[in-house]
Amino acid sequence: MNNKQLLKIAEDARQYSYSPYSNFKVGAALLTKDGKVYTGCNVECASLGGTNCAERTAIFKAISEGDNQIDAIAIASDNSEKNEPTYPCGICRQVILEFGINIRIITGYSEGDIYECEIKDLIPHYFTGNDFREIK
Ligand code: THU
Repeated sequence: MNNKQLLKIAEDARQYSYSPYSNFKVGAALLTKDGKVYTGCNVECASLGGTNCAERTAIFKAISEGDNQIDAIAIASDNSEKNEPTYPCGICRQVILEFGINIRIITGYSEGDIYECEIKDLIPHYFTGNDFREIK
């Protein structure tokens, strides 16, 4: 599975977005280290704080099915076809980081420019469980 293929799956996952409030459709495709793919979309709620982003939907699907070895997460939104990347929000960055500082973030457009970075590079001076478990 290459980055272009994973991004295309994220683009296709946008069709299931439930986003009547923002009208901003987001799709995600999570690739496990053994090659399995979980998709996600954003799911909004009239009480807006109950909204779940596409990235977290994909992560929660994978984790809840016993898959916590994550290689990469691709993200697509309504901006993709304008050839503009969409990066994860702050909450999603922290949740992604929880499962590995080297998880690859793939964004852009499958028919255009494709970008890759590691989640640790999206959270400078990141905080993880190791930072407080060491304090006894
Ligand atoms: N959203 C995502 O699903 N992922 C992102 O990376 C950015 C934001 C969703 C949340 C909300 O449903 C809509 O996009 C507008 O913020």
